[in-house]
Amino acid sequence: MYNKSHWYNDDYAKKYGSLVVPAKDTLINAIQLCAIQCSQGRPLENWELRSILHYLKSLEYKVSDLNLSEQELQTIQHHLGEKSPSTIQMIKNKYLAYNPATFGDPYMKIDPEKKGNIKNGEYIFSKGCLHCHQIGKNITVFEFDAESLTFSFFEKKLKKHSNYSIPYIVRKGTYATSGKKQYMPQYSLEKMSHQQLIDLIAYIKSKSK
Ligand code: HEC
Repeated sequence: MYNKSHWYNDDYAKKYGSLVVPAKDTLINAIQLCAIQCSQGRPLENWELRSILHYLKSLEYKVSDLNLSEQELQTIQHHLGEKSPSTIQMIKNKYLAYNPATFGDPYMKIDPEKKGNIKNGEYIFSKGCLHCHQIGKNITVFEFDAESLTFSFFEKKLKKHSNYSIPYIVRKGTYATSGKKQYMPQYSLEKMSHQQLIDLIAYIKSKSK
């Protein structure tokens, strides 16, 4: 996040409209959009913003993340402290200036012949879905567990498009409404690929009775 130049890219404009304009080129504005819209909270105060920026900075790219060749490392060392535009560009070429975001089609058919990787599906379910939906977490009003009744419920719901059918909810998400502010952000194709969605469904089917 810290090393990017643009946030709320591409298809996020479809969800947030003109709200993405001030957030596109400024990390502070992007964090505020997340606080107010995505998290449905109040605007962050200055000290909060500064803390978040410090935290993100602690996670910024390190030289060792960039897979530099010996030659490139030497070039950097040679130009250290010079602000050489070509060296800066060489470093910037090592990573994307922004994360692309493409929203998938909520109505897309899942080919039943396509094989899913059950282990990957379990990972997505427990680290992704349960992160917010686990019983007792109090993040959503729709809580579930990893028991066979949950999986049978989801398997039955696969038959037609609705908020409870996983391909639909993953690609469509939900929206804040009055009285129920919290909503589910949809997964872009970059955050959950079509294959990962197939993996998730394969896991659910394997656990349902
Ligand atoms: C960032 C938190 C978050 C993550 C991650 C998340 N959800 Fe949600 N989900 C929500 C919220 C918030 C709602 C809607 C409001 C509510 O019910 O509280 C919701 C709604 C839903 C609904 C519809 C319920 C309804 O009442 O319309 C389903 C089904 C669902 N999520 C399944 C999933 C699955 C499957 C995953 C994993 C692929 C997942 N969610 C990941 C937060 C999340």
